[in-house]
Amino acid sequence: MLGNFTFCNPTRLYFGEGALKGLDEELPKYGKRVLLVYGGGSIKKNGIYDKVVAALKSNGKEIYEDGGVMPNPTVEKLYEGVRRARECKADLILAVGGGSVCDYAKAVSISVYCDEDPWEKYYIRFEDAVEKTLPVGCVLTMVGTGSEMNGGSVITNHAQKLKIGHVFGDRIFPKFSVLDPTFTFSLPKYQMVSWCFDIMSHIMEQYFSGEDDNTSDYIAEGLMRSLVHSSRIAAKDPLDYEARSNIMWTATWALNTLIAMGKSTDWEVHMLGQAVGAHTDATHGMTLSAVSLPYYRHIMKYGLAKFKRFATAVWEIDPDGKSDEQTANEGLEAMERWMREIGLVMNISELGATEEMIDGLVASTLVMQGGYKVLTEDEIRKIFKESL
Ligand code: NZQ
Ligand code: ZN
Repeated sequence: MLGNFTFCNPTRLYFGEGALKGLDEELPKYGKRVLLVYGGGSIKKNGIYDKVVAALKSNGKEIYEDGGVMPNPTVEKLYEGVRRARECKADLILAVGGGSVCDYAKAVSISVYCDEDPWEKYYIRFEDAVEKTLPVGCVLTMVGTGSEMNGGSVITNHAQKLKIGHVFGDRIFPKFSVLDPTFTFSLPKYQMVSWCFDIMSHIMEQYFSGEDDNTSDYIAEGLMRSLVHSSRIAAKDPLDYEARSNIMWTATWALNTLIAMGKSTDWEVHMLGQAVGAHTDATHGMTLSAVSLPYYRHIMKYGLAKFKRFATAVWEIDPDGKSDEQTANEGLEAMERWMREIGLVMNISELGATEEMIDGLVASTLVMQGGYKVLTEDEIRKIFKESL
């Protein structure tokens, strides 16, 4: 049965080549003082910084900068950003970058008017955002996380060896996001294929849960088919606009809450991957690709009907004359061939994880309740060992 739900996605999107013009519609809605948040400098090399600054100036804004947001933004950087936003009395945070920059901007936005330690409040106690927050707008330069149209914000605490995501409600979603596929063209191929798997993982984490006949799962299958098709083209020709724009759009829908409506979801792969990320600081999508097959092969028997459906609907495996298990296995084999074809990392050793780290990885893995099997500590250990 499709469960009850409330759906609201308030983020306004400007999509396509030239979409930055959307800033002219959005910026006048906010006060003068804009905190421009960005990463390690890719936007200065590829010219996006200049275009954004020009749009801010032509809209009469005062620009205050907060650069240097690292991939997997840290809690120390969050504290620094909060100080910066307070000092400059920002009216709007404009995040220009990938998921890390967007997540960070949201974390700053909900912490500026918060008297408590945001790490403790939001990432340890998972409390709701304070009433007063700063509006956030995003100009996306890398796709995958869905952060441009959701309330997720992931922060890493290296001292505590924790990388934690908190999914906030629609009040914290970006007010607007600019999605120009050509802004992602300067990404190295490693990053591009990494986000392809991040997208796939987001869809699978919502798909592999529950047994119901649910519209969300049919949408998920369409998204996965589109992603597999387009990623194959983009892996060969990274500048193929059609493929890249389809991937960008798929990424947004993969994690803007739509396909989770009315059903349970899993997210254990993200917990395993985030543990690897906390210990190695590896690229997010690759931490997911490196643990996925051992995980899905492990839980397959607990959700066999769905794995069979995945094999036939997404990978076009013919089930005729085969046992359900055989069909399901062939689906995962087809997925493995696709993963190798586009160049994903297939084991955690390649990301810097070692046998000695396994106890630490197990300790850093949160156990989710919504998948086909709630993992025990031994099962988590086994999955990490098989992922080495
Ligand atoms: O920092 P710069 O110099 O800008 O370089 C970045 C960074 O090194 C580079 N990059 C971005 N756009 C580029 C570019 N390089 C060249 N050309 C461009 N156009 O790419 C590197 C990685 O960027 P990052 O923002 O870290 O990547 P991504 O978008 O994958 O974000 C990863 C973060 O998002 C979190 C992850 O855990 C991780 O911390 N997630 C957020 C989610 C959410 N909000 O819902 C869900 C996801 O599952 C994910 O957990
Ligand atoms: Zn992800």
